[in-house]
Amino acid sequence: MQYGYFDDHSREYVITRPDTPLPWINYLGCQEYFGIISHTAGGYSFYRDARLRRLTRYRYNHLPLDQGGRYLYLRDNESGAYWSPSGAPACRDLEQYTCRHGLGYSVIGSVGHGISAHTRYFVPLDENFEVWQLEIVNHRLHPVSLSVFSCIEFCLWDAQDDATNFQRNFSIGEVEIDDGVIYHKTEYRERRDHFAWFACSAPIEGFDTQREAFFGAGRGWERPVAVERGESANSVAHGWAPIGSHHVRLLLEPGETRQILFALGYHENPKDRKFDPPESQTINKETVRPAIARAVDAASADAAFSRLRAYWEERLDICQVETPDPHTNRMVNIWNAYQCMATFNLSRSASFYESGIGRGLGFRDSNQDLLGFVHMALERARQRILDLAATQLPTGGAYHQYQPLTKQGNNDIGGNFNDDPHWLILGTAAYLKETGDWSILDEPVPFDNQPGSEQPIYEHLKRSFRYTLDRLGPHGLPLIGRADWNDCLNLNCFSDTPGQSFQTTTNKDGQVAESVFIAGLFVLAAKELAAIACRHGEPADSQHCLSEAARMAETVRAQGWDGAWFLRAYDDFGRKVGSKECAEGKIFIEPQGFCVMAGIGFDDGRARQALDSVRRHLATPHGIVLQQPAYSRYYLHLGEISSYPPGYKENAGIFCHNNPWVMIAEAMTGNGDAAFDYYLRINPSAREAISDVHRNEPYVYAQMIAGRDAPTHGEAKNSWLTGTAAWNYHAVTQWILGIRPEYDGLRMAPVIPERWPGFQAVRKFRGVTYDIRVHRKGPGNAVGVTVDGHSQAGDLVPLPSDGRALVTVDVTLG
Ligand code: GLC
Ligand code: GLC
Repeated sequence: MQYGYFDDHSREYVITRPDTPLPWINYLGCQEYFGIISHTAGGYSFYRDARLRRLTRYRYNHLPLDQGGRYLYLRDNESGAYWSPSGAPACRDLEQYTCRHGLGYSVIGSVGHGISAHTRYFVPLDENFEVWQLEIVNHRLHPVSLSVFSCIEFCLWDAQDDATNFQRNFSIGEVEIDDGVIYHKTEYRERRDHFAWFACSAPIEGFDTQREAFFGAGRGWERPVAVERGESANSVAHGWAPIGSHHVRLLLEPGETRQILFALGYHENPKDRKFDPPESQTINKETVRPAIARAVDAASADAAFSRLRAYWEERLDICQVETPDPHTNRMVNIWNAYQCMATFNLSRSASFYESGIGRGLGFRDSNQDLLGFVHMALERARQRILDLAATQLPTGGAYHQYQPLTKQGNNDIGGNFNDDPHWLILGTAAYLKETGDWSILDEPVPFDNQPGSEQPIYEHLKRSFRYTLDRLGPHGLPLIGRADWNDCLNLNCFSDTPGQSFQTTTNKDGQVAESVFIAGLFVLAAKELAAIACRHGEPADSQHCLSEAARMAETVRAQGWDGAWFLRAYDDFGRKVGSKECAEGKIFIEPQGFCVMAGIGFDDGRARQALDSVRRHLATPHGIVLQQPAYSRYYLHLGEISSYPPGYKENAGIFCHNNPWVMIAEAMTGNGDAAFDYYLRINPSAREAISDVHRNEPYVYAQMIAGRDAPTHGEAKNSWLTGTAAWNYHAVTQWILGIRPEYDGLRMAPVIPERWPGFQAVRKFRGVTYDIRVHRKGPGNAVGVTVDGHSQAGDLVPLPSDGRALVTVDVTLG
């Protein structure tokens, strides 16, 4: 069953009923001001940091999950009937409900009581506010008197504190109401220089800022007393819980359309000009007034919306494909690219699965996010690499996470995730391949953000490489530390106390447990670093990387092979993990994908054998599970992985993040049918028809789909903020479609299904537009390339030497 449909032409997903299995969300904002918005207008907003600068409140694990939100109520002033046009929170009598989630905006509305009302929510580029553009049409045959009430709940900034520290917070709430604008200024009297504002384009009849006055005793979002009564209380919050609500009255003739704009914003004042008059406690509003005026002006909003659309078009146009498969087309051309931007912006901080108060930006995660994002915003990718490198430690290790507002490493989590450093090499390599901007290697960046410790990025990369060589275990494989990519394989943890964090508890000294996955990652990263070193004029470094890569590959052959697949690890007792010798967890996906990606096992048939084992033991119709058999009980020496019931998360769930590693590996072995088959199994659009099973949004990837051991096999969870976005984008565009930015040009190496006659693509790369046509003339993946009518040797298309901005590439396959 479906709950909506793709409108590819408008680049929107249209939800046609409010009862989706879960909130189906979208993101507003892509620079500093962000919001999460569900298909019924639930969700919250924040400035830069979902924990430290939360503008509106979110009640954790609320019922329904997505309340509160950006809510509007309409009231028929004659009958007293009222409803929310977005389908929540006052959900009644709606016809023609629709939610159009687009790129950076959502339009939500319906028809109720003969009145249609639709609101376009978006954050204009370069502004720190969100606009709600409400359009109301009277479809009745008579004039109608309506009341519109807006309502948001302000959060007292620090979302963690907001949800816990009531003894203080219930006494500190403060607001100002001036000229119809509601200002939220809690803590502004002391150390904050920022405040929130909530404005309306129409003259207001009344307002409320005290929560209880608006809702009434014992009532919630569904039945606010002010709406029921048709009149605000004009309440001024002193302590308790400040909200913002406007009341607007309208008289609409039959057929008449009216637009009202609401806007919610964030503003900072210079520290020495916070108050006006200076000796008072009144906010100086001079600096914010121009923004408010722009925000509630319909013409400015329309212009800002057009700019936003153009911004997205420009980004998506960098890579557009036309293949025989509609799911591939819409994911690559629209949604997967869009999701990559969301993961780049927010890492794993704020979604309906990430609370915004837990994790900041992950070192490993954000580096991987670059793989899917780098081509869309080169400058921001560059800055991200510099920020990440600044949280690297002098040892080459890294803080596992950092807080986006402060950019400082997160001390509570610390480091010692021994895979982390290598992702910096892969992230930087992706940036270099896309841009050719070698200057980044000379950019001085501190370690651990300590002034004075600056070293060029190139030195950072060398330390990443060195980090593993300094930490080899008894078999010559990399020591695993707290965990590698699989956060839940905690081989040094041995936690027997409820509530302890598996991520940070370490009861073993870590000198024994080793990771074959890190070995594969090391080999891949070392090869990349060798290529970088070579072009950076450091041939000795390059040689050194290559010889260590070869040595590690040899160690994997000798110590990391289990007969028919790659081993996963050695535990703290030196016993195998992910081996036929194990009772459970005999085979894991990660080393099969990564070792093959690193080029291990091509000369001796093991790559093929490992991938065949994946197909035999791990592949399900809903995707490839992480390991088999699932752990049926908790194993002290394995950690969190065995804490999950079988089939969920890292315990044999389909972890969509690493499925593309197998797709890439299959493509590298030339098996386009298998690569594409795996691609489709987890492609959200291809799963739209089973939305009742899948349950998450059909337009974005989820982190996990429940594995075959789970009673809910096929059910997705943790949508949006997952490395799945970048890796799938990377796998399908660069390895299946095979259009691959490399250091010295754009490689054409499609490994597509046998049945495809070909495909077309437009790829913008280093200022040149490549118009690519791939034509299959027979089975197989042999490539012939013609550039602007001239056939060339090899499949690497160099940048045109004569400054041409448009290049036509014809590729024959087979
Ligand atoms: C989550 C984490 C990621 C980790 C993965 C596997 O997606 O964000 O860092 O690699 O889980 O445990
Ligand atoms: C839990 C999750 C894992 C995630 C980690 C982040 O371990 O299972 O997916 O990476 O938390 O800290």
